[in-house]
Amino acid sequence: MSAITPVISATGLFTPPDSISNAELVASYNTYAERYNAQHAAAIAAGDLAELALSSVEFIEKASGVKSRFVMSKAALLDPNVMAPRWAERPNDEISVMAEMGVLAARDALAKAGRDPADVDAVLCAASNMQRPYPAMAIEIQNALGIEGFGFDMNVACSSATFGIQTAADFIRSGNARSVLVVSPEICTGHNNMRNRDSHFIFGDVATAVLVEAVDMAPHPHWEIVGTRLKTVYSNNIRNNFGFLNCATPESVGTDDKLFVQEGRKVFKEVVPMVSAMIADHAAALGIDPASLRRLWLHQANQGMNRLISQRVLGHEASEDESPTVLDTYGNTPSAGSIIAFNRYSDDLAAGDVGVICSFGAGYSAGTVFVRKAA
Ligand code: COA
Repeated sequence: MSAITPVISATGLFTPPDSISNAELVASYNTYAERYNAQHAAAIAAGDLAELALSSVEFIEKASGVKSRFVMSKAALLDPNVMAPRWAERPNDEISVMAEMGVLAARDALAKAGRDPADVDAVLCAASNMQRPYPAMAIEIQNALGIEGFGFDMNVACSSATFGIQTAADFIRSGNARSVLVVSPEICTGHNNMRNRDSHFIFGDVATAVLVEAVDMAPHPHWEIVGTRLKTVYSNNIRNNFGFLNCATPESVGTDDKLFVQEGRKVFKEVVPMVSAMIADHAAALGIDPASLRRLWLHQANQGMNRLISQRVLGHEASEDESPTVLDTYGNTPSAGSIIAFNRYSDDLAAGDVGVICSFGAGYSAGTVFVRKAA
């Protein structure tokens, strides 16, 4: 029996209503840093403590390309006394924040595909952080949507969505499911150290959904999944130590090393060649000339990285049309980044056009999903 062809029937997007500009973020950080320096003036003067340097809008934009980011908790993130997301704790019988975002993105994808939730077989919640260990976020999303079948969570940091797409595609290829929702709610502002000048500007919040289905039930137009490939290589250069075993003592809860940390320069140098080669090798295996790719929907962490990767793949500097940017307004939205780019910049392609959705990040992890538009 030949494998059933998986396709992307539709994608969905939930964007939080509030956005923070670099100027707003820098004003908050600098107020914190100036207060810290004043408070510790004697120790700094004695050489016992290092003075905190100020952040700047120019640096952030030049180093990363991020100009603003959407967030779930603007006021608390900007309050120099808090600098973390805050919302009222919800009782167990109320939908959790991550599930609520995921449901909105999933509904958007289902509506675009004209799909009834009753026809969906499985929900994967694929994201870089989960709000809790269990019950799985995916099962809460499944329940809220009224989907029968099964759901589970998976985490491969920034590559969670592409790993989820391959998992869903494999379910369809093997006949274990015909319609699978891959939902990626990302609230990385809760794991970011807003008091760290080197990384306070990186993340934004968002949710995406990808409906992966068997070709014989897909709406028109849709995207044939031509090939998927995954790769992981262990690295400590992007790390988050949060977790119940690591927050065992009251003193360790909320300390800096339980939040996101990275060696940004090393990540840049090591991941660019790894991902460029992966896209080229996978294209060759599929008989696709990389230079002929109509569009690259790349992970949205850093503008410079994307410029280099797309240049290596296409053989020339990519235009915005060839490699669209969303990190300027969304920031780094872990696994959702490449899916936002695909969601916003794919309708204009013609039947037969081939492109690649590509994620990369902590692990290291990387995923490539080659897609061909079908009429
Ligand atoms: N404001 C002003 N200056 C700042 C600053 C800030 N907020 N943060 C750092 N700087 C300064 C540093 O002090 C340093 O100064 P020095 O050269 O005098 O020592 C200089 O800017 C360069 O700092 P560096 O951290 O090396 O910056 P960078 O140019 O490498 O950019 C990243 C940092 C993180 C934006 C960039 O490396 C990156 O995005 N890398 C890829 C990360 C990635 O993809 N991660 C995946 C996560 S999923």
